[in-house]
Amino acid sequence: MNILHLAALREAITRQRPGWTLEQPFYTSPEIYDFERRGWLAEQWYTLGHRSELSEAGAYIVRDLLGESLLIVRGTDGQVRGFYNVCRHRGSRICDRDGRATNLICPYHAWSYHLDGSVRSAPAISADIDLAQLGLHPVPIREIGGIIVGSLKGHVPSLDVVQREVEPLLQYQGIPQARIAARRSYPTRGNWKLVMENFAECYHCYPSHPEYCRVMKHVEVFARQATREVAAEWERTMEQWFSKDADRDSPAPLRKDFKPGPTIHSVGRAPIGEGRKTQSQDGKPVAPLMGQLRSFDGGVTGFSIRPFVINMMTNDHMVMFQFLPTGPEDTNVVISWLVNESASEAEVDIERMIWLWDVTTVQDKALIERNAEGVRSSAYQPGPYSAALEPGPIQLVSDYLKAMLARL
Ligand code: FES
Ligand code: FE
Repeated sequence: MNILHLAALREAITRQRPGWTLEQPFYTSPEIYDFERRGWLAEQWYTLGHRSELSEAGAYIVRDLLGESLLIVRGTDGQVRGFYNVCRHRGSRICDRDGRATNLICPYHAWSYHLDGSVRSAPAISADIDLAQLGLHPVPIREIGGIIVGSLKGHVPSLDVVQREVEPLLQYQGIPQARIAARRSYPTRGNWKLVMENFAECYHCYPSHPEYCRVMKHVEVFARQATREVAAEWERTMEQWFSKDADRDSPAPLRKDFKPGPTIHSVGRAPIGEGRKTQSQDGKPVAPLMGQLRSFDGGVTGFSIRPFVINMMTNDHMVMFQFLPTGPEDTNVVISWLVNESASEAEVDIERMIWLWDVTTVQDKALIERNAEGVRSSAYQPGPYSAALEPGPIQLVSDYLKAMLARL
């Protein structure tokens, strides 16, 4: 981005009215996207996989993140590490697809690397070259209760507090011992902010997600009448469930409201409601109980790291979302559904399990794409968010603008 563009970007940011949507170029400009991709976006955490995909030493997966190919590897010491999938000899891609190996070998001239990224051998390279300096370029990777998150740059927000607070809960829910039962991709023609804004609010749930509202009744009630009384009534229902019916041993706190908290992560449980055991069409289980839960309490537990890491856990399955910006106006949304690793295929009803989030995400993809089409129009101007029902997007946009300004 040249200096003129940077000045224009700074001006656009300072012009931005708090509580209103962004100006058009933030949702469409390749220059702004490129600036984000090299800076702020590269310093966020993204879900890249699950422990079951890297269950043994030498297992590796190849994943794209912000236009880069990454190699994520489980070492002989049990640690998961991530590297750019770029050979230090002449830059070739090293691996094309997931696999398992004792060393990583570049197919071009056969340089090989240990699982920790250091060079193992570089045939016919003169002895005065210091191969210790030519290990694979590392990227930040963390494994939190079986969820593998990664980033591109070293200056990522610390996950120490998140790990400490969330690991026991994910252990309790059985997430490290889960397996992926289904995975689907929803490539969406819209800037990542339009995608994340959509996922950060439920204002659209009543008009646009009839199935979701049928399952999560309180969402419908709340979204239709966003009053203090309705919110207080829902809070009473939740507290009653938490003190009477919820699993007592779960380390997750009650999730009080829909607003983002002061930390970058949030975690909490709430009842699905109306006696539903899980988020299926009829509320009946779709798989065996997970983790240490002894009976169905009908709760749903959320765990997220702002803005891209979002997971939901019911009693019998987990829904792991991946949000991957892939271009100025393109974002890939990937959903994985996980169940107990010991659950047999016969015990898991995949169609009933994926129903809710598949139907909802197909709807969201269409909503976001229509939103993106309108935003491309010369008539588009920023509009006001609902303070009552869109605190998530308000926070997302304000965090984003602050971070961008700090980089200019
Ligand atoms: Fe990898 Fe030559 S580019 S060994
Ligand atoms: Fe939605």
